[in-house]
Amino acid sequence: MNLIRIFPIAFRDAAEPWQLGFQDPATPMMQGIIDLHHDIFFFLIVILIFVPWMLVRALWHFHYKRNPIPERIVHGTTIEIIWTIFPSIILMFIAIPSFALLYSMDEVVDPAITIKAIGHQWYWTYEYSDYNSSDEQSLTFDSYMIPEDDLELGQLRLLEVDNRMVVPAKTHLRIIITSADVLHSWAVPSLGVKCDAVPGRLNQTSIFIKREGVYYGQCSELCGTNHAFMPIVVEAVSLDDYVSWVSNKLD
Ligand code: CUA
Repeated sequence: MNLIRIFPIAFRDAAEPWQLGFQDPATPMMQGIIDLHHDIFFFLIVILIFVPWMLVRALWHFHYKRNPIPERIVHGTTIEIIWTIFPSIILMFIAIPSFALLYSMDEVVDPAITIKAIGHQWYWTYEYSDYNSSDEQSLTFDSYMIPEDDLELGQLRLLEVDNRMVVPAKTHLRIIITSADVLHSWAVPSLGVKCDAVPGRLNQTSIFIKREGVYYGQCSELCGTNHAFMPIVVEAVSLDDYVSWVSNKLD
């Protein structure tokens, strides 16, 4: 029983109207990104309050009416040490979790499946070369956006595609990203992935999707007139469903 097919709307991860925050995370990577964002946001708020407070205070107390005879002091070693050391400590508090996340995102955990995403003007091609059948034909298909006139009720405008990239959930995946023409970028917010597709170069990223669902993304590098019309849809299913999807495709 495929729950995604029965409740298609409940399982989809796409942007919502007037959304301000992140989309729900589906990978440890995206959870890490959101946590880091919240960590840094704390310092941002502290600085945002402290700096204007200091500015307003200085303007108030050193106004020429309130303070007609100016002080002649131009140096204060103690305060200079404080305002140099303190921001660098804040930067350390930001840098340490930031580097930890950066390097853990770069790690490729022994992938079970490798999928190649190839950007074209203006669609994506997905290659599953782990299942090359005897006649050297790999499982390859194109993924085009559904045009507005062909949308069915409940489908997302500018986001739905004809052939989704189907992957198993709870499995380590390696995505290899490249392009056949110009720069594109393969990006899916809920998965925490945004990887440039560069002609003549293979970029690699790894994902581990924690729950079944449909994840929507878009090309994120200006690639021509139809840049807005080459979305990405990743459908994460159970391993059983994935196996039967692959065997259907190979026939
Ligand atoms: Cu492809 Cu923008």
